[in-house]
Amino acid sequence: MIKTTAAITAVGKYLPKYILTNAELETMVDTNDEWIVSRTGIKERRILKGKGKGTSYMAIRAAKDLLNKSKIDPKEIDLVIVATATPDMQAASTAAYTATEIGATNAFSFDQISACSSFLYAMSTASSYIESGRYKKILLIGADKNSSMIDYTDRATCIIFGDGAGAVLFEPNTEGLGLHDEILKTDGSGREFLQVAAGGSQLPASLETVKNKKHFVFQDGKTVFKYAVSKMAEVTEQILEKNQLSKEDVDWLAAHQANKRIIDATARRVKLNENQVMINIQKYGNTTSATLPLLLNDYEKELKKGDKIIFAAFGGGFSWGAIYLTWAYNTK
Ligand code: UT7
Repeated sequence: MIKTTAAITAVGKYLPKYILTNAELETMVDTNDEWIVSRTGIKERRILKGKGKGTSYMAIRAAKDLLNKSKIDPKEIDLVIVATATPDMQAASTAAYTATEIGATNAFSFDQISACSSFLYAMSTASSYIESGRYKKILLIGADKNSSMIDYTDRATCIIFGDGAGAVLFEPNTEGLGLHDEILKTDGSGREFLQVAAGGSQLPASLETVKNKKHFVFQDGKTVFKYAVSKMAEVTEQILEKNQLSKEDVDWLAAHQANKRIIDATARRVKLNENQVMINIQKYGNTTSATLPLLLNDYEKELKKGDKIIFAAFGGGFSWGAIYLTWAYNTK
């Protein structure tokens, strides 16, 4: 019997028009372009402006971009997953609204929330459904409006994060292409180092939480950095070993774009050259759940059928992991 794998067969993206440059950040907090570029690799990021626009605004547009490019009828989609850390609302699924707005009327849908690892973990979810044979077309969107939870007077976080959305379609493949293996991890003892403390069930919104800025992202950057470097590099190395891949076998490393120094350290650990590493952090900053699908969009034209890609991510929770996937199509 031919084994069915889950392959990515189309991509799409949406980026808000507003560009927040390092020069503008210099007018907002005590920082400078040289510090930001040398410490993070970020030159600019996108911000979604406009009242009432949430993460779904970008998720819908990324999905429509994918549908337009691939000429797929949204009615054929079985499942829509929105990977996000910033859902539109707490108790109504962003994915349900997104699916309806794009005309995926035959799909069910849900959000998958796991900070910066949301998209990586959701790749595993989508692939498992496809491999099981239960569903044939799964639209996975990674979208985050990080600007909704950033304190633009806190230089430790406001320089890093940006808004954006990327989408991929997973379909069955019988040529042996698609997702092959994964190593996914969590360690809850890390949650104190990267979190939005209030607004959830543990510390509901109150005048006190607003006054004390508890609805903004708090990050102990140094600690997160240390863990991110060691854990992302570790799982990347492990997934290569597990699949008997040498550094020459790898065509691309698609790593979560949180800090260029973390990506460089991961690449160094497995001895990859610069031309094997996807980078777009300079344009968008850290878009949380959108970094991996935005990389695929930006590099789509360079990707060839059969290319071996290692995905890696690290984020709040702590949560992290690596995925090994082969690319399934050539772009015309
Ligand atoms: O996606 C989720 C996972 N998140 C991450 O992976 C982020 C991980 N962390 C980081 O990327 C880095 O820790 C940061 C970019 C947040 C900070 O870089 P760092 O090299 O760890 O800087 P630091 O916090 O050790 O600060 C070094 C110096 C300090 O000054 P002193 O004490 O040496 O005088 C800071 O006060 O840089 C100062 N500093 C800044 N200076 C200018 C901190 N932030 C800034 C800033 N502009 N924005």
